[in-house]
Amino acid sequence: MTKLIAISGALRKASHTTALLRTLAKTAPDGVEIEVANVVDVPVYNQDLDVEPNPASVETLRAQVNAADGIIIASPEYNYAMPGSTKNIIDWLSRPYGKAALVGKPVLIITTSPGSTGGVRAQSQIRGTLAAIGAHPLGGAEVVIAGIDKKFVDGDFADETNLKFIQSSLDRLLAEIKIRS
Ligand SMILES: Cc1cc2nc3c(=O)[nH]c(=O)nc-3n(C[C@H](O)[C@H](O)[C@H](O)COP(=O)(O)O)c2cc1C
Repeated sequence: MTKLIAISGALRKASHTTALLRTLAKTAPDGVEIEVANVVDVPVYNQDLDVEPNPASVETLRAQVNAADGIIIASPEYNYAMPGSTKNIIDWLSRPYGKAALVGKPVLIITTSPGSTGGVRAQSQIRGTLAAIGAHPLGGAEVVIAGIDKKFVDGDFADETNLKFIQSSLDRLLAEIKIRS
């Protein structure tokens, strides 16, 4: 079984980004388990808090990422950038220095927007930050989901074209995991 942890940088309860991850978890291919992490309680990064014992939400998230074969990070875009919440999660997962949970992990990035750009500027920033900390953001065509608010039916993400493309990206993530294992 290949284990993926999916992390949403959108914290609101009715988030489309998080709902998309829930759909991906429900429709994971055979042999793949996708768990959506709960990051709502992760505090703002503060080096004074980054000592044993870490905040419980951070301990859990780091353990989940450490145990995962690969990661999905999904995020909206705020003011032409990744939201502080997305960067905050990456900051926590970039420490402790030398044994950070994200280092060496293949990561599929998904960005979303109700607008037409699909959060492409946030995508570029997330990619740059992940590369800087030694994670392995998946190369190739980027998953940017435009008009996300209009793509749900009964709570499930239902745009067939987007879903097909995400599934092909997931296949590339799984291939990357295989190569690196
Ligand atoms: C502070 C703020 C800034 C935003 N800036 C952008 C932006 O630069 N580009 C964009 O496409 N959408 C922007 N939006 C719209 C978000 O993409 C939208 O609120 C989206 O639904 C959030 O994702 P969620 O549904 O997963 O919570 C912004 C929203 C907020 C609250």
